[in-house]
Amino acid sequence: SASKLLIKGGTVVNAHHQEIADVYVEDGIIVAVKPNIKVGDDVTVLDATGKFVMPGGIDPHTHLAMEFMGTETIDDFFSGQAAALAGGTTMHIDFVIPVKGSLSKGLEAYKDKAKKSCMDYGFHMAITKWDENVSREMEIMVKEKGINSFKFFLAYKGALMINDELLLEGLKKCKSLGALAMVHAENGDAVFEGQKRMIELGITGPEGHALSRPPVLEGEATARAIRLASFVNTPLYVVHVMSIDAMEEIAKARKSGQRVIGEPVVSGLVLDDSGLWDPDFINAAKYVMSPPIRALGHDKALQAALSTGNLQLVGTDHCAFNSTQKAFGIDDFRKIPNGVNGIEERMHLVWDTMVESGQISVTDYVRITSTECARIFNMYPRKGAILAGSDADIIILNPNSSFQITARSHHSRLDTNVFEGRKGKGKVEVTIAGGKIVWENDELKAVPGSGKYIEMQPFSYLFNGIDKVDAKYLSSLQAPVQRSKAAS
Ligand code: URP
Ligand code: ZN
Ligand code: ZN
Ligand code: ZN
Repeated sequence: SASKLLIKGGTVVNAHHQEIADVYVEDGIIVAVKPNIKVGDDVTVLDATGKFVMPGGIDPHTHLAMEFMGTETIDDFFSGQAAALAGGTTMHIDFVIPVKGSLSKGLEAYKDKAKKSCMDYGFHMAITKWDENVSREMEIMVKEKGINSFKFFLAYKGALMINDELLLEGLKKCKSLGALAMVHAENGDAVFEGQKRMIELGITGPEGHALSRPPVLEGEATARAIRLASFVNTPLYVVHVMSIDAMEEIAKARKSGQRVIGEPVVSGLVLDDSGLWDPDFINAAKYVMSPPIRALGHDKALQAALSTGNLQLVGTDHCAFNSTQKAFGIDDFRKIPNGVNGIEERMHLVWDTMVESGQISVTDYVRITSTECARIFNMYPRKGAILAGSDADIIILNPNSSFQITARSHHSRLDTNVFEGRKGKGKVEVTIAGGKIVWENDELKAVPGSGKYIEMQPFSYLFNGIDKVDAKYLSSLQAPVQRSKAAS
């Protein structure tokens, strides 16, 4: 039957090791990984000779069917996931936005949107305000609802932004629950100031977006969040690291022993800001995301940081808005919905940019596109590995084939593509999700409703020993110094 699969003769790659072996799959689970597996003729056999057999990509950062900046992203949980499957990604973690301040209402709304899913998914929760109820609901999310990470926005003033007092409350709560705090690191007050400055100068076009929120504001907020996480002694995950400034703060903190994770996104790794100066508004507006795509040089520095381990995994921040939606900001860049695509392109572009160029090994590729995400969010080895017992989310990549990106043939609903015209080496020829072949011969067989909600438990490896560090700190504090009450 179709639920039995044998992948023969490929190079099976895990984050720790690669070897030539067969992979046998039954009912959505990997049953065996070893050379020369013999099977009956009721098993579908795929020949992977000369190709790489790897864990399906896990995208730690997407926004499907999100209401944002007065509109809703064009890709929903079916179209976005179908695009993902065509590009070798078999799971993503999306961000739940609370509804009227309620986390549980937000989660219910997102679970509803996700009913049409054709691949597995998990959720982070955005925290956009703070009160007793939010604090209580965070506990419910972690203990009962399968959420083990919360995102705090230091930008989007007047909308999602929180202040330092609330960030501290959030960090403390995350720590007590064993949940990972994530941060959008830009100084929202300064961005607001920068935007006013650009409008006053008459710079109302898309280039004003980048000019109003330069790298220094990303560096400042990253440094601040890292220091506050250090003060609380809890791990921190910095999403969409777009600049050298932010990356260097993360590298410095990691060098000092702090548990900080840095997530660059594919747009920041392979693009520069030149498109924002395109004289055609739509051509320029498609590059608008926050933090902005930076000047040439930041891209190469982020790649280097990934290859040396200063940054740990790659996301997309897939947040797709069509030309008609981008046009909301035709007279004022502040009204251009923020976000670019990437869910379909990440695996190919990271392969070409990082592996094909010789910057990282194939095992490192698996680590930064899949395994590290599974470990950080506590899904390993169910996800992120080709091991007996793991979920059968698998890709077959042909290193000698090539890919080409264009809006004319991509699977997203987007009418543009921020990576339009890019080509490169290495092509995902087969995607297997939940043990089923969903992408083969450039044909997609995505089945609505086949994706599962993956509940994520708290206390991933990032929390190992945190309690001991705290105990050591407390015992290091001496008894209060006894001082005479007499006036001197
Ligand atoms: O421009 C972006 N990044 N849009 C998505 C929302 C966010 O901040 O991640
Ligand atoms: Zn092994
Ligand atoms: Zn963000
Ligand atoms: Zn995002």
